Amino acid sequence: MSSSWDRAGKNNHQLRTSVKKKNSALIAPSVLSADLLRLEQQIRIVERAGADWIHLDIMDGHFVPNITFGPVVVQAIRRCTKLPLDAHLMVEKPGRFLKNFREAGADRLTVHMESCPHLHRIVQQIRELGMRPGVTLNPSTPAAALKPILPYVDLILVMTVNPGFGGQKFITSMLGKIREINRMIKESNPAILLEVDGGVSADNAAQLVEAGARVLVAGNSIFGKPNIGQALRKLRKAASL
Ligand code: DX5
Ligand code: ZN
Repeated sequence: MSSSWDRAGKNNHQLRTSVKKKNSALIAPSVLSADLLRLEQQIRIVERAGADWIHLDIMDGHFVPNITFGPVVVQAIRRCTKLPLDAHLMVEKPGRFLKNFREAGADRLTVHMESCPHLHRIVQQIRELGMRPGVTLNPSTPAAALKPILPYVDLILVMTVNPGFGGQKFITSMLGKIREINRMIKESNPAILLEVDGGVSADNAAQLVEAGARVLVAGNSIFGKPNIGQALRKLRKAASL
């Protein structure tokens, strides 16, 4: 049993930690870079290491030049973790699949504004299905395009690589865009979570959090390392300012 002195010491430590760490981010490992033959095991490793969400990259070979997986795999992943499933749809006409992803167990569904001429309708449908809607934009799409949709979404995802592949280099000029979107969120709908995806690592995590990122997606910098759990903890530490 711990003494009252120990408990007081621990409380002081917690207090110091919470005072010192003003900003931090949730960590969402992207299974795109996982070893798919050992997916269950690798998800358990990141879960034990403290992952907050599991990020799922859905690609159709049309909207992006790569094909990954669909609702069947999402359903299998749902069976092996209780963590929130954060699905990022890189597909044409995503409205065709919203219900399928809900039934498969996705908690969050993020669509590309470039793939949705009727973005407001899609966002509403995602919410009506009981998921949290997010909107994302490619590196070449200006931040200002998000303004009309901000009152309706729970999350904005800033792409910091051109979507389609894991392991690409972070586009440094996106830092300014993250800051700009962070300002827009504060003015319009401060409840929105600002998520960043592409080339995120322990080397740029602090800059990203400082710019306003509250969720970091990371594929290669976690699953590409020999010790996945250690890589996740390193990223979290780097993201705690
Ligand atoms: C890219 C995907 C990303 C990808 C990130 O199109 O949206 O989620 O998995 O991978 P890394 O972290 O390796 O850049
Ligand atoms: Zn993604």
